[in-house]
Amino acid sequence: MTYQKVEAVRGNTGVMTDARFPLAQLPTPLEFADRLTKAWGGPQIYIKRDDLTGFGLSGNKVRKLEYHLAAAKAAGATTLVTCGAVQSNHCRATAIVAARTGMKCLLLLRSSDGQPPKHVEGNHLLQRLAGAQVRFITPREWHDRAALMEAVASELAAAGELAWIMPAGASDRLGVMAFDNALVELSQQIEGPATIWHASSSAGTTAGLALGVARHQLDMRVVGSSVGESKAELTEAVHALLVESGASDAPFEVVDDYVGLGYGKTTDEELLVQMEATRLTGLIWDPTYTGKALVGLKQEIESGRFEPSDQVVFWHTGGGFAVFAHSFPLG
Ligand SMILES: Cc1ncc(COP(=O)(O)O)c(C=O)c1O
Repeated sequence: MTYQKVEAVRGNTGVMTDARFPLAQLPTPLEFADRLTKAWGGPQIYIKRDDLTGFGLSGNKVRKLEYHLAAAKAAGATTLVTCGAVQSNHCRATAIVAARTGMKCLLLLRSSDGQPPKHVEGNHLLQRLAGAQVRFITPREWHDRAALMEAVASELAAAGELAWIMPAGASDRLGVMAFDNALVELSQQIEGPATIWHASSSAGTTAGLALGVARHQLDMRVVGSSVGESKAELTEAVHALLVESGASDAPFEVVDDYVGLGYGKTTDEELLVQMEATRLTGLIWDPTYTGKALVGLKQEIESGRFEPSDQVVFWHTGGGFAVFAHSFPLG
C-alpha cells in the first residue's frame, strides 16, 4: 500500500460513507434520578445512560466510533490511529473497538513529560490490555498532533498497513453525525421542553447534540459544560463542526464557569459533589468529564437557572474507568 492511499482516506472525505458499524448497545436508557432531583432541589433530572453503551466500549465515543469504523473498513484501513490524554476514554474505546473488529490500533498519548505514566491504570490499562501500540508525546508535541499522526500513517504505510486517522475525541463530521441517532432515541424517551446538559471537551458531542436537536426539531436546549477549554474556544470549535456538518444555525450554549483548575485537574470540593451524586444515584461519574459537568449543573441549579418543573437531561457520557486512576477524599 502506498502513502497516496493513506492520503486518500486522511480527513475522512474521499471514501466517506454514512454507514454505521454496530458496536454500541442502543438505545441507551433514560432514567429519572428521583433522589438527586429531590436533594438538589431544582429541576426534574433525567440521566441519559450512554455509560451503558457497552462494557469496555462504554461512553459517548462509541457512537462516534461506529461511523468511523464503517468508513475505515470501507477504505480498507488496517490500523486505527488516534490521540488523546493518557487517560483518554476515546483512546480506550478505540483500542477496544480495534480488538473487537480485528484491526490494529496505534495511540499517541499526551503525558505531562512525554514519558509513560508511573502506574498503568484506569483507561490506560484497558488500552494496553486491548493490545494497542502506544507512544507518548509532550504537551508541546500535542500541538502538532495532526502532523504526528500523518507521520505515523506514513510509517505504517511503509510497513504495508493502511492507517485510518481520527482526531482527538473522534470529533469531526463523522463523529457529529453519530449523535443524530441519539436524538431520535431521546425523542422517543421524553418530550420537551428540556435542557440537555453534558460535559464538553473536543466539541463533537455538543455539535452532534445540537445538530440532532435541530434536525428533529426538538424543543430542547443543548448546553455543553466545558471541562477545560474557554467558552470562546469551545464555541468556535462547536460552530466549526456544525458548519462542516451543514448545520451552521443549530443553536447551542457553552458554559466555562466550572473548569476549575483546568483539564484533568480536580479539587476536593468537586470530587465531593461527584461522590454525593454517586450516593444519590448509584451511578459512577468520572472526575475529568461527567463529575465536572455535574458540579456545573449543581451550581446552576443553586443560582436559580431552572424552575422545579423544568426538565434536565444529564447526558452521562461514560468515563467511569477513570475513577480507578484517581484518589478521592473519602474521609
Ligand atoms: C466521558 C466523556 N465525556 C464527555 C466527553 C466530551 O466529549 P467531546 O470530546 O465530544 O466534547 C469526553 C471526551 O473525551 C469523555 O470522554
